[in-house]
Amino acid sequence: CFSPDRFDLYYQGQPIVVVIDVLRATTAMCVAFEYGVEKIIPVSSLEEAIEYQRMGFLVGAERNGKIVDGFDFGNSPTGFMTDKFNGKTIVLTTTNGTRAINTANKAETVIAAGFVNLDAVNQYLKEQQRDTLILCSGWKDRFNLEDTICGGAIVDYLVAEGSHISDHDSSVAAKYLYQSAKTNYFGFLKSSSHRRRLKKLNLQEDIKYSLTPNKTSVIPFLKEGELIKLG
Ligand code: MLT
Repeated sequence: CFSPDRFDLYYQGQPIVVVIDVLRATTAMCVAFEYGVEKIIPVSSLEEAIEYQRMGFLVGAERNGKIVDGFDFGNSPTGFMTDKFNGKTIVLTTTNGTRAINTANKAETVIAAGFVNLDAVNQYLKEQQRDTLILCSGWKDRFNLEDTICGGAIVDYLVAEGSHISDHDSSVAAKYLYQSAKTNYFGFLKSSSHRRRLKKLNLQEDIKYSLTPNKTSVIPFLKEGELIKLG
């Protein structure tokens, strides 16, 4: 599923939902857990985020790639490479990623993925042997390249392991895009709109980190509306 607004068209049965926001929300979540965050409460709107702030939570907010004024942090993966959140619960709202996670919340099992935890996610899905629905966060309900390629990497792996693609050409398209991009994500994604947006904001380090596969084996897992580290 290429964007959250299409989710209900694809959601059937009891699939595991894998939410992807390579640049940068789900990548940042992996890093946050890697550096000791205990829990992440994903919220969709700034209003909800403000409510949590009033309750005394540590709250991060990003819109259009920038930290929203009045909030403590955004969703920079490299920004979470610190022990200052160790053992803490944080609240996060981002332009697309947290909204996608909340859209998927009706599913029993929701995990978050990016290139940074790709092998761990693939291994987990292989072990589960269940239907899988990949939800790309996209950009404001539109298709984006990096989430699709990452989703295609998962499709490619599961097909090689004997899974069947259901009756949706989107999975086939994602797989083909991944196959074209896999030897050079960085070069292939030069034309990605969000990569260009982040580059203008001088966030090259975040881009570089987010496009590097298998930096961590952490899998963020949604439990009763809150993300925790699987296992
Ligand atoms: C999002 O949720 O849309 C992204 O994480 C945006 C960003 O890179 O800050």
